[in-house]
Amino acid sequence: MYIQNEYVDRKVSLDLKNVSKQYLQPHTERIHTVLENINIEILEGEIVTILGKSGCGKSTLLNLIAGFENTYGGKILLHGKAVNDISPERIMMFQESALFPWLTAYQNIEIALKMAKIPKKQREEIVMHYLEIVGLSDYSHSYIHQLSGGMKQRVALARALSLNPKVLLMDEPFAALDIAIKKSLYHELLALHNKHRKTILFVTHNINEAVLLGDRVIVMSPQLYGIKNEYVIDIPKEQRSDNNPIIKNIINQITSDLYENN
Ligand SMILES: Nc1ncnc2c1ncn2[C@@H]1O[C@H](COP(=O)(O)OP(=O)(O)OP(=O)(O)O)[C@@H](O)[C@H]1O
Ligand SMILES: [Mg+2]
Repeated sequence: MYIQNEYVDRKVSLDLKNVSKQYLQPHTERIHTVLENINIEILEGEIVTILGKSGCGKSTLLNLIAGFENTYGGKILLHGKAVNDISPERIMMFQESALFPWLTAYQNIEIALKMAKIPKKQREEIVMHYLEIVGLSDYSHSYIHQLSGGMKQRVALARALSLNPKVLLMDEPFAALDIAIKKSLYHELLALHNKHRKTILFVTHNINEAVLLGDRVIVMSPQLYGIKNEYVIDIPKEQRSDNNPIIKNIINQITSDLYENN
């Protein structure tokens, strides 16, 4: 694989070696192969976006990396250590923010820190710091139902970052939001990424979003039970617009990857 210069000295964060996943279909008892022999090396601080038709196994792949499922073939290594359970090192963020509606924004973040056994005094500092980072200091005492969709996703992002994960797994995190909110969240996510350099895997159905945010875009195919194509986007993120001819070309190639029948 072609590696950009800026990556040459970076360490591998996540290493997926021949990862396979099968499910037993509930009624028929037939084995259903979802993923077969997936090989991906993801570098520290890299943003990898993942596209693919509905049902091709994108969420399954993220769930395996998150440690939600521990029966799979092959190996998933984070800094060389096998993944087989959940851990604050690998945090998932979903389309629906999975926040507790009966708790405030503050409490939603604090509860994750409590579970990670962070002492109270430290928790307070961490929660306020991350609420500030996502621009919600004034909403710390608001209940989740009092927040807009974009604000909820900001709380979820603050909660994920507050655990200081090595890897952030984002499963269509902005899919339910309108375009203006999405755009402001893209900028915020990239600004946060510039500062904290987390490794990010970001699943989306939106080709433009994938090309705008990713250092690399992976296109998955249900027919192949895995990866169909990979694109390294070797253009600074601030120069990526739909009018840029290289970006246009990549978008066209990805579009045909997604709509060809293999
Ligand atoms: N827990 C499970 N038990 C049985 N089958 C499952 C389970 N989870 C996922 N599957 C099957 O695995 C396949 C891939 O599902 P997955 O949710 O990973 O797709 P996806 O690419 O994320 O789709 P979408 O874009 O619609 O979110 C589907 O056929 C689904 O039915
Ligand atoms: Mg999914």
